[in-house]
Order: sequence, then C-alpha cells, then structure tokens
Amino acid sequence: MNLFGSLEDNELVLKEGVLTYSHLPETVLFREQEQNVIASAIKPLLSGRKPDNLFVYGKPGLGKTLCTKTVLQQLQNYSSDVLPIYINCWDANREYQVFTEIAKQTGYFFFQGKSAEDVFDEIVKRAEKSKGVCFVFDEIDKVRDLGFLYKILQHLEDKASVVLITNDKDFLMNLEARILSRLTPNELKFRAYSLEEIKEILGERVRLAFKPGAVSHIMLNKIAYHTHRSEDIRVGLFLLLNAAKNAEQSGHEKISNEDLDAALSKLAQFKIKTSLSKLSTDEQLLIDLVSKFPGLISGELFQKYSDAGGTLTMRSYRRMLMRLSRLELLSLENTSKGFRGQSRKILLGKKLKYTRIDAD
Ligand SMILES: Nc1ncnc2c1ncn2[C@@H]1O[C@H](COP(=O)(O)OP(=O)(O)O)[C@@H](O)[C@H]1O
Ligand SMILES: [Mg+2]
Repeated sequence: MNLFGSLEDNELVLKEGVLTYSHLPETVLFREQEQNVIASAIKPLLSGRKPDNLFVYGKPGLGKTLCTKTVLQQLQNYSSDVLPIYINCWDANREYQVFTEIAKQTGYFFFQGKSAEDVFDEIVKRAEKSKGVCFVFDEIDKVRDLGFLYKILQHLEDKASVVLITNDKDFLMNLEARILSRLTPNELKFRAYSLEEIKEILGERVRLAFKPGAVSHIMLNKIAYHTHRSEDIRVGLFLLLNAAKNAEQSGHEKISNEDLDAALSKLAQFKIKTSLSKLSTDEQLLIDLVSKFPGLISGELFQKYSDAGGTLTMRSYRRMLMRLSRLELLSLENTSKGFRGQSRKILLGKKLKYTRIDAD
C-alpha cells in the first residue's frame, strides 16, 4: 500500500504561502486611493520638508496592514534616504521593546544591557543623518505605554512621519493631550469591500495558490458570500485553505460542499480570535494577563493589571471581570481560600481555552 503517493497526487494547494494572512500580494486591489493617502503623508520627507502624521483605522481584515506595508516597501525601493520602520505593537508593546525593534530596523544591533535612553539616542542620531524616518505603529491600541510615541514626536518633530493603525476608531479620543497636540494626524478610514471586490481579491489568490480547477466558480462565489458577511478578507483565506485541506484528505479533485461545510464549522473559533479585537484596551489587557498568569485570584490579578498600566478602579475592574465572564472569555472559579472562602481563581473562559491570544 502506498500511503503517501495518493495524497501527493491530490494536492489542490500548490502554494500555501499565498493563502497566509501575512502574505503580501504583488497586486493590492481596490485600495489605490488609500495607498496614495499614506504615501502623500510620507512624501515631504523625500524633499526635506515636514511630513504629515496619519491615523489609519477600520475593522479587521480590510487591508490596512497590507496597504501600509506595500507603501513602505515602495518607499524603500525608491530611496534609501528615508528609513522605513514597521512595528506591530502586539509583539512590541513596551517602550524598551519598541526602541529595540526600531534600532534593529535601522541596522543598529547591540548586546543586552543598553538603557532605553541610550537606544533612543542612537535612533535619533540615525534619524538625523537620514532625510527622515517613517514610523508605522500597527495595532497601536495594544501598547501598554505610549511614552515612546511622545519621545519620538518630541525629538524628531520635522523628521518623522508617524502612521498609527488600529481597529479602534475612538483611539484618538482617549489619547493624552500632550501626545495628541504633537501628533495632529490626518485620518484615513478603511471601508468594507463590496461582494464583487471580495470575489476578485479571493479569485486572484485562488489563481496563484491552487491547481487549476480546484475551486469552481460557484464555490468561489459561496466563499466570497461568507467573507462579505463577516467583512474580513481573512475569513475567505481561512475558508479556502481549510476547505482545500479537507478536500485533499477526502481525495476530492476539487472543493466540494461538504469540504466547505467542515471549514465553516471551524470558523467560529477563528471569529472568537478576531472578536477579541473588538474589546476595549482594558479588557484585552486583562485577558492577556490571564493567559500569561492563569489561576490568580481576583486581588492578585488586579495588582498585575494595575502594574501593567491599567487605570480602572477596583470597582470598575470587578465590573469588567463580570462582563468578560458573562461573555465566557474568562471563567471565575470558587476556591476555599480568602474571605468566607470566596476568593475566586480567574482562568480563561470556555471560548478562549484553545485559542492563542495574539496576532497572526
Ligand atoms: N485589496 C486587497 N488585495 C489583496 N489582498 C488583500 C486586500 N485587502 C486585504 N487583503 C488580504 O486580506 C488579509 C487581511 O488584510 P490586512 O492588511 O491584514 O487587514 P487589516 O490590517 O485591515 O486587519 C491579508 O492577507 C491581505 O493580504
Ligand atoms: Mg492589520
């Protein structure tokens, strides 16, 4: 019996990488205007003038990250005089991490032991030698402390174009006045794609990733329909890849209705992960802490939350705990400890137990 031959013959996905969320497609469809707005903010740097700052917002999966990265790449291809920096604030969410990552991207590597000030001084020196720096801070609402942003705005005023990206349209409203007054960004909202646009975007991926004929026209329409309902292109990529894997395993020559149904049943899990991004920054911070320190009792968790920069009072914090527990994102379990044996251990809730809580 040949256990592997039959599977290989039946590969529907020829280039899986094309279906990953972080893949940068060569052609970005239907976002020319948005890319122009981003490029125009940065452009003055090339001729030594003061650039604009930009606030980019919109729901998840609408191409904000893609467009910004594409603009940075074009900038890099066009000129080496302006330094392109891209930071994902899920990964680097404290000042020291942000500065280290920026330093790395400007080509400054160092052994551990430098202070944040030293690293920042070096960044400023490098910026001053160049025509300027374009800083993109993606998922900016995930940072713990915005001190680094103030320092950049303060020390690199004419030399830095700062682009902030977030799903949270109200982010600027909650920003400290001293930061906002220096930032005064232009705003760019990403709108949802139409059904027709989604069909074309996914159709292009299908053409590049799949064996010809693996995804019928009708199947593509169905997947586009589900994607349009969620407004998130990643749903389409998720369904394409998962349905194709199901088809490969079942020995189907192309994706069948059953293959798609099986992929749709896994979609709930995917959506939970995305729905986390709809929570407030405080709620996200709390969930993040519970995933790192499961099983703390309420008071201990409150301490961690405050240490990490959370500003809610104990009372509001308790209310937030109750809300997250109702949403089954956290679960509160009674222990025999504490006042009248009522201390409760806090764990990730049913909906999150098997989900990795971080960015793609
Ligand atoms: N206009 C587009 N053309 C091609 N692919 C797109 C387009 N818009 C989004 N995508 C793809 O959809 C996925 C989500 O886009 P992303 O930029 O990560 O969204 P956001 O940052 O707004 O959450 C990515 O894989 C991206 O490549
Ligand atoms: Mg993004």
